[in-house]
Amino acid sequence: MFDRFIPRINWRNILALFFAFPILPIGAQTSEEKADALLKRMTLTEKIGQMVQINDFNGEIPEHVREAIRAGKIGSMLNEVEVETSLELQRLAREESRLGIPLIMARDVIHGFRTVFPIPLAQAASWEPDLIRKGAAVAAREAAQAGYHWTFAPMMDVTRDPRWGRIAEGFGEDPFLASQMAAAMVKGFQGDDLADPHTIAACAKHFVGYGAAEGGRDYDRAIIPDHMLRNVFLPPFRAAVDAGVATVMTSFNEINGIPASGHVKILREILKKEWGFEGFVVSDWESTKEMIAHGYCEDMRDVARKSARAGVDMEMQSSAYGDHLEALVRGGEIPEALIDDAARRILKIKFDLGLFENPSPYRIAPPRPPLAADLALARESALKSLVLLENSGILPLSPSLKSLAVIGPMADDPYEMLGTWNRDGLPEESITPLAGIRNLVGESVSIHYAPGLDFSRDKNRSGFEAAVAAAQSAEVVLFFAGEESILSGEAHSRAYLDLPGAQNELLEALAATGKPVVLIIMAGRPLVVGNLLDKTAALLYAWHPGTMGGPAIADVLFGKEAPSGKLTITFPKAEGQIPVYYAHKNTGRPPHSRKLTMMDDIPRRAYQSSLGDASRYLDIGYLPQYPFGYGLNYTRFEYGDLKLTSAVLKPGETLTVSATIRNSGKRDGAEIVQLYIRDLVGSLTRPVRELKGFQKINLKAGESRQVSFELRPAQLGFYNGDEQYVVEPGRFQVWIAPDAQSGLMGEFELLPGS
Ligand code: NOJ
Repeated sequence: MFDRFIPRINWRNILALFFAFPILPIGAQTSEEKADALLKRMTLTEKIGQMVQINDFNGEIPEHVREAIRAGKIGSMLNEVEVETSLELQRLAREESRLGIPLIMARDVIHGFRTVFPIPLAQAASWEPDLIRKGAAVAAREAAQAGYHWTFAPMMDVTRDPRWGRIAEGFGEDPFLASQMAAAMVKGFQGDDLADPHTIAACAKHFVGYGAAEGGRDYDRAIIPDHMLRNVFLPPFRAAVDAGVATVMTSFNEINGIPASGHVKILREILKKEWGFEGFVVSDWESTKEMIAHGYCEDMRDVARKSARAGVDMEMQSSAYGDHLEALVRGGEIPEALIDDAARRILKIKFDLGLFENPSPYRIAPPRPPLAADLALARESALKSLVLLENSGILPLSPSLKSLAVIGPMADDPYEMLGTWNRDGLPEESITPLAGIRNLVGESVSIHYAPGLDFSRDKNRSGFEAAVAAAQSAEVVLFFAGEESILSGEAHSRAYLDLPGAQNELLEALAATGKPVVLIIMAGRPLVVGNLLDKTAALLYAWHPGTMGGPAIADVLFGKEAPSGKLTITFPKAEGQIPVYYAHKNTGRPPHSRKLTMMDDIPRRAYQSSLGDASRYLDIGYLPQYPFGYGLNYTRFEYGDLKLTSAVLKPGETLTVSATIRNSGKRDGAEIVQLYIRDLVGSLTRPVRELKGFQKINLKAGESRQVSFELRPAQLGFYNGDEQYVVEPGRFQVWIAPDAQSGLMGEFELLPGS
């Protein structure tokens, strides 16, 4: 079957060349020019055909699909996995349609393809955009080899709600960090040249506000003031557009009453006009049609009208465009210019991708097991995404350790470690923590493995006895707990963020043995862990770490490598504290400046105002379990000597803020140094902290280094109530910090005229 790779002169190739020529007029140079030239030769039906995307149909190509492709009525497909079918579809488009326009084939390649990388939320914990870029480049190459031209990634929805299942797919709560990560992932997928057959087109999704779903319930509405949209939710998309992202996907949610797929202001005005986005917009799966259920459209004709007007260029899965656009144009309800614009955008990307020259699947090589270098990268990515949250000193495990109990439903489950959206990675190619530990320690440590529970939701306690016996016969217990993949991701929101099933009881039984328990959590979101800590000697957050999670975890547990990841999402103390995030507003009654009476201290029949009048909860206070930016290492880092080059920042000038970071522990380590600011007085109140920079540095034991950040006035502005980006003079605080809740603080004044 793979002899297709060998270039041959046969009737098929000759035909392909023959069909390629008439659509590439002499003199046409750029993709835009080629798209324009082609557009002139297209009928209205064919133009609308480019705007139609259909899903795979499982098995034989139905006759009506063949006919539609021949008639130029389909522009794209998603999810076709059969090579033969893919080839045939492309052949129909190239050889049997009038203009031979290739289909663009799409797939959700979210965090790896065959080589599965950690979930994006985990990758973000590395704070290494370049590592993320490299991971996406591997995924692009593998997906391109399987015949895909386009991925629906990266997801860059800022979210502050860990109940929301799709938190796993994004980069966390901060717009600045998410912007860096989003741009890096786009560059990784797309490379420098989309026509390079190792690259695929990326898709910035979900535009926009999807992560603000009310109550963390997937698909629920987002209520976002315009200034917040601009300050918090739009920046990653802007960064992706600036990085050259080829496509953008609309979101399922409504924003302030208007569903995203019908949102003229967001799609047409901001994305296309204001930002100058030149790629195309695809709807999310039937999100156009769902505007009827939202109560925004009357019927499918109305759907087609509103989506096309808003600026959705391609409709995924539902058929409003195919069924109604032509009549709407002929009836004068939609100007043909809108159709031209949409089709031109889609054709441009097809030309950019080089599909007219080589549309075939398996453009480079047959599918094959992951390459050693790609596995090494996945391992590095998993390693750098691990976040050490607690450590009594038990980690790294002692080299003289002779026996170990490995317990828990996530310890040896090669499927669950791959995380949400894993479609193409093979569990049999993943290395579990148990296997990783065995490979690392060989015969030197005797390992007592007993899962205790079969899977994370398992409530059957029949395995407890063996698990407790294993714990009793070992010096240290490693308990691998967490969430199965299916508990995060699309439509998988949770109201309780505890360890599901009987995992908590199992942990209690293990702790009751008196053996120290190291808890390793593998999950797609932050869980509420406060009630687990008195039973554990250490807590390592491993997320869903992908194919190479096992070796990475083993390396850290045994101290071959040091943990260095830091959280990009605040961990709540309790579900009732959500949303809790570092860049909150101060309020008029900030808790940190007031005496707080906690629940248990309140006298009976106390008078209302005697409690302290501060913004917090009586039962858990106001601080989260772990702040944004937090993560421990096997060494200690001391921050000192904060310096600002000036106490004032003048227009056109730069302020340098620096601090000395010292590795005062006994091991080498990497530290993620963060720069935050606070604008003390604004025409709109500003958050108590905003991330403005970060650097990851490696310091040998005992080594010190000065870390400097530059701040320019333009970085200190924000979108005001009129949606204008303003840089307002006044006093600012600045921190160089290990996380969002601590650090060294200085102050400066931004002078007028900036
Ligand atoms: C729906 C999801 O919201 C989106 O992220 C995904 O790309 C599409 N389905 C296609 O699978």
